[in-house]
Amino acid sequence: MTPLISPSMLAADFLHLEKDVRMVNEHADLFHLDVMDGRFVPNISYGFPVIEAMAKIAEKPLDIHLMIQHPQVYLERFCKIPHAGLVSFHLDATRDDPESVLGIISNNGVKAGLAINPNIPVEKLYPYLDVCDFVVIMSVFAGFGGQSFIEDTYERVATIRQEIDRRGLDTMIEVDGGVSPKNSAKLVECGADILVAGSAVFKSENPAATVAAMRG
Ligand code: DX5
Ligand code: ZN
Repeated sequence: MTPLISPSMLAADFLHLEKDVRMVNEHADLFHLDVMDGRFVPNISYGFPVIEAMAKIAEKPLDIHLMIQHPQVYLERFCKIPHAGLVSFHLDATRDDPESVLGIISNNGVKAGLAINPNIPVEKLYPYLDVCDFVVIMSVFAGFGGQSFIEDTYERVATIRQEIDRRGLDTMIEVDGGVSPKNSAKLVECGADILVAGSAVFKSENPAATVAAMRG
């Protein structure tokens, strides 16, 4: 299977954002947009003004990854950004029933995703697999770009892939953090559908070639 490649704009050149948005338009499949609130994760990234600016020239769907507490407060607004295609939040970021929070995203015509950090067993996602469009298996702890890939991600992806297939679902698996051409093929082999990569793409000499290498 050919994976979708979702470059993380956190690693883009913010002084020349347009150049990097056009690279994704031309060579990749999705825009991965990391929203951090300094509460759910110990870092703050960017929010509406920056994402809306990118959306103006984006020709690929936005894959918005919310690392914020109480995401339900902002979901409608994120879903209404032009080209919003996928929106995910973390299972442990909401005190509401995750199913109802996923419903807010789906009701806005956007694909709904549930994310988990590496210390949360993948089995915690099982009750929601038939009500979400995709799951985000973090291969680093959410909060910062440029971290090293955690090796037991392969096993986690394979485990949840088995469960999705066993139940005949079409829930997609996104892997996020430290993904590069070094681990992309094995992740796809284990069952990943969407690969997020920030540093590996934008810090490489040739981002387009790196995207192509990860597609396999
Ligand atoms: C981490 C973010 C990731 C990050 C990926 O909290 O969710 O999307 O930007 O960046 P790299 O590929 O550099 O690990
Ligand atoms: Zn992310």
